[in-house]
Amino acid sequence: MTATAPAARDRAAGPVLPRSRGELSRTVRQALTRPAGTPLPRRVTAAHADPYGDDLQLALYLCYELHYRGFAGVDPEWEWEPGLLRLRAELEERFLSALRADVGPPRKAEEALADLLVEPVDGDGPSHFLTERGELWQFREYAAQRSLYHLKEADPHAWVIPRLTGRAKAAMVAVEYDEFGAGRAERVHARLFADLMADLDLDTAYGRYVDTAGAQMLTSVNLMSLFGLHRALRGALVGHFAAVETTSSPGSRRLAQGLRRVGAGPAAVHFYAEHVEADAVHEQIVRRDVVGGLLEAEPSLDADIAFGIDATEWTENRLGNHLLTSWRDGRTSLRTPLRPAVSS
Ligand SMILES: [Fe+2]
Ligand SMILES: [Fe+2]
Repeated sequence: MTATAPAARDRAAGPVLPRSRGELSRTVRQALTRPAGTPLPRRVTAAHADPYGDDLQLALYLCYELHYRGFAGVDPEWEWEPGLLRLRAELEERFLSALRADVGPPRKAEEALADLLVEPVDGDGPSHFLTERGELWQFREYAAQRSLYHLKEADPHAWVIPRLTGRAKAAMVAVEYDEFGAGRAERVHARLFADLMADLDLDTAYGRYVDTAGAQMLTSVNLMSLFGLHRALRGALVGHFAAVETTSSPGSRRLAQGLRRVGAGPAAVHFYAEHVEADAVHEQIVRRDVVGGLLEAEPSLDADIAFGIDATEWTENRLGNHLLTSWRDGRTSLRTPLRPAVSS
């Protein structure tokens, strides 16, 4: 397709293309620097790639971002380019089949939801670490990585709305309405997160920290794009949403407490404080009406909802272990350390 005036305008805006991390991501990246429709620069296969590795996950992230905000200088028509979609399907297949094998046997949504409510007695996640002994630099690393999702918070979940009906749809939209600020731009959760980043002396530009984020964070954000973009995975997407909303409130309480302890500014504390209250309510709505409504309308999706919950937990635990291992060793959890905060 030829470039139209709006397409030309789109090319000027957006985040900078991240650097490649291997042959798959190099192939996608190079393609995106050319006009849409140009054949991919080389034939590549995902058959032997590490499904959770930097290269495959970055290649997938590049493909998915075309559905969100794209990249500066990249032809927006790449979003629906058949050659790239074929490669994306191969990357997704490798990722999804690895997840299905690693997450464990199929089970009922009720069982997976019940497990989410059991907080470990001696908590061992990043939010526990950060509350008890996190230092400012570790909070900054946490926020920089999490910005890959939080600067588009709730966007991947919005894709499920046309795929739901009745009670599930009404409840999903009610929660998303809150996530998107309930009609007030300054209350959009992605905006609250940008305010948190500014308080921590981080760059708030969308996509700014992709190059420094590890494969574990890319995996976490790609999981929701994968579930969001496929109608066939709508059950898993609802499971993902349920897992996020259910675990958010206690984790947010800890993070708000930790940020106060290290003397972070009010906007940094506010993002998590807001989620303590909001997500306690969201959790109830999602469990009762989104999950309950979907199960009522489509009982055959039960195992898919459980898979979405379990895959979310699995990828989050992997990310958490990476953060904790790095920090306990006194090392950065990022690919390249952040420049120090001006105030520190
Ligand atoms: Fe939120
Ligand atoms: Fe929420």
